[in-house]
Amino acid sequence: MLTSGGDAPGMNACIRSIVLTAAAHQIEVVGFSHGFNGLIEGDYKKLLPYHVQHIIHLGGTLLKSARCPAMHTEEGAKAAAITLRQMQLDALLVIGGDGSFKGALAIAQHYKGQILGLPGTIDNDVDGTDATIGYATAIDTALDAIDKIRDTADAFERIFLVELMGRHSGFIALSAGIASGAEQIICPELGVLKPGELDAVIRPIQNAQVVKGKSSYIIVMAEHCYPGGSTALAADITKAIGIECRACVLGHIQRGGSPVGADRILATKLGAYAVEQLLGGAHLMMAGEVNHQACLYPLQASGEHKKRIDPYLLRWQQQVAND
Ligand code: F6P
Repeated sequence: MLTSGGDAPGMNACIRSIVLTAAAHQIEVVGFSHGFNGLIEGDYKKLLPYHVQHIIHLGGTLLKSARCPAMHTEEGAKAAAITLRQMQLDALLVIGGDGSFKGALAIAQHYKGQILGLPGTIDNDVDGTDATIGYATAIDTALDAIDKIRDTADAFERIFLVELMGRHSGFIALSAGIASGAEQIICPELGVLKPGELDAVIRPIQNAQVVKGKSSYIIVMAEHCYPGGSTALAADITKAIGIECRACVLGHIQRGGSPVGADRILATKLGAYAVEQLLGGAHLMMAGEVNHQACLYPLQASGEHKKRIDPYLLRWQQQVAND
């Protein structure tokens, strides 16, 4: 197995579950280091239950993670498959997100063993599972930070623009924005904003108490929604309304930290389920959870099928922001 792409809290819990479940079925497990790089370079170690003791509560990943540009080439996929064949491995488990599954699918062209994916990313942008491993923790981390920003924003009666991660989806922004009571949420699902066309953002601020120097105002924004990011948008808002708007980019803090209970449980369930499904012959599938049931879903790099953020909450937020 390997962990690939952006690390996510709960990856360690998933590694642990895979190793423990495999041991219970007398299956040997090796873990490759630094994502697909370790697979290409043959950098691995055998994993036994004692290696995964007391890691369920740790963020990051025991196996390390990385992006792997080589996997964007046919040669990279072939090299990865050669390692799998030479080591006579029967199956490959990939814990990661969209890009990682793309790598797994490329390897499948050159490898006859079974391949399964496990959804591990804070972004939650993976079809076939209600939540990805790491998403719940990322929401709570962002929420904790926004609550703190609210304290200082209230004290100064200021406008803050908080930029959250999510790659190209608004799951974290919408969830943390709703849970923190943010006055506005900007996410890619609403379209990319253009400089000079900021009416939809500015109007609600002008109608709010903050322009009279009363109360605070927080805008939660997903990354990649404005050219130049939140710093540029905060400067443009400041110029447009004549009141200072401060930007705060939370960044990689959202990827770290001890996984919340929901992520530990999801990771444990999916890790165990993936091993059991391998034994049942599953191949080119992802182990996900829908309506509390573990289930298999065809392994894919989402592309057009991208999971949608909650339209109900998004609509509600827009309604109250403009009231
Ligand atoms: O996919 C997880 C994620 O944290 C995204 O939310 C973010 O856009 C990206 O990874 C950042 O990647 P990197 O750490 O490689 O800059």
